[in-house]
Amino acid sequence: MNEILLIILAYLIGSIPTSVWVSKRFFGIDIRDYGSGNAGATNTFRVLGPRWGTIVMIVDMTKGVIAALLCFLLPYYANINNEWDRTNLMIGLGLAAVIGHIFPIWAGFKGGKGVATLFGMIVAIQPLVAVCCVGVFLLVLYLTRFVSLSSILAGVSFAIFILFIFNDDVPLYRIFSVAVAGLVILTHQKNINRIINGTESKVPILKHRDR
Ligand code: G3P
Repeated sequence: MNEILLIILAYLIGSIPTSVWVSKRFFGIDIRDYGSGNAGATNTFRVLGPRWGTIVMIVDMTKGVIAALLCFLLPYYANINNEWDRTNLMIGLGLAAVIGHIFPIWAGFKGGKGVATLFGMIVAIQPLVAVCCVGVFLLVLYLTRFVSLSSILAGVSFAIFILFIFNDDVPLYRIFSVAVAGLVILTHQKNINRIINGTESKVPILKHRDR
C-alpha cells in the first residue's frame, strides 16, 4: 500500500509542468503554443532563452531524481540490503514521474517528452551509465545540432550500455533499458518526421563556423 502511495506521489511530482508554469507566470504565454509546441526544456530554451531553458532542464531532471529516491522514505527500503527490491521500486517511481511529465495532471495531460526527467531517474539509479549517455548526447549534438536526435540516440545508447557494455545481469534493468529506448523513440515521432522532411530546427549556438 505504501508503495502505491509513493508511486502516486512520484507521478504528481513528475506532473509539475515546469515549462508551462514558467511561460505562463513570467511571460504570459503557454509554451505549448510556440516553437515545437513541446512542454520541455529544449523548447523553453528555444522560445524563452538559455536562462529559462536551463532552469526548466534542472527542475525537470530533479523531478526524476527525487521520484526515484522516494523509496528511501519507506523504512523497509531505506534499510534493506536487498538491491533487487529497492531497484524495482526506484524504477517504478522514476517511470511514474516520467509518465507524469508526459501526461501531467496539472496541465491538461499535455506535457513534454520525458527526456530530462528520464535522465534524472537514470542519474539516481545508474549514475555511471548516465554519464556515458551524456557523452553520446553531446557528441550527437555537436555533430548534428539536433537536440531531438541527440535525445533519441542517448536513450538508445542507454539500452546498448546496459545490455552489451556494462552487461548488467539484473533482468529488470535490461527490460527497463529497452523500455527507455522505445519510449524516447515513441515520444519523438514528430521530431523524427521533421528530421526526415528537413524541417527540424537546429541549436543555433552550436553552429559550425564557416571557413
Ligand atoms: O527533450 C525534447 C527534445 O529532445 C526535443 O524537443 O522541442 O525540439 O521537440 P523539441
